[in-house]
Amino acid sequence: TVFDCSIIDVSKVHNKAGNITVVENGKNIPFDVKRIYYLYDIPGGEARGGHAHYELEQYVIAASGSFNIMLDDGENRKIVTLNSPNLALHIVPGLWRELDNFSSGSISLVLASHLYDEKDYIREYEQFLKFKK
Ligand code: TYD
Repeated sequence: TVFDCSIIDVSKVHNKAGNITVVENGKNIPFDVKRIYYLYDIPGGEARGGHAHYELEQYVIAASGSFNIMLDDGENRKIVTLNSPNLALHIVPGLWRELDNFSSGSISLVLASHLYDEKDYIREYEQFLKFKK
């Protein structure tokens, strides 16, 4: 459910020259990362996502700027604002998600548990609700 999704403080190494945040398999992420992608140059007012995954698990990080993520398990919804590069939203499998309210210049960094596979997507909300029943 959406309540299985938490925000993890992946911490940061801070010094006067700035910050580094590190995510390491087996240390501060509950799955092994197979793929990394990032969303950027998102025009104002645009929304992304609008789908669910059967198997895919993700960490979503606002590497720059901020945006909202809406999560939906077919019964419950929650909206999370990500606005700090040391925070990761853990999205468990089987949830509908929509990303919006991207600030100008924001970057959404995604660490994913599987390689890209179109067969893992549910792109129709009605089909998602049937899958959840
Ligand atoms: P999609 O996951 O639907 O984007 P979003 O949820 O951010 O709106 O992917 C958009 C397009 O990019 C789609 O045609 C598939 C392609 N794509 C890949 O080829 N590989 C990938 O790893 C991802 C995430 C997307």
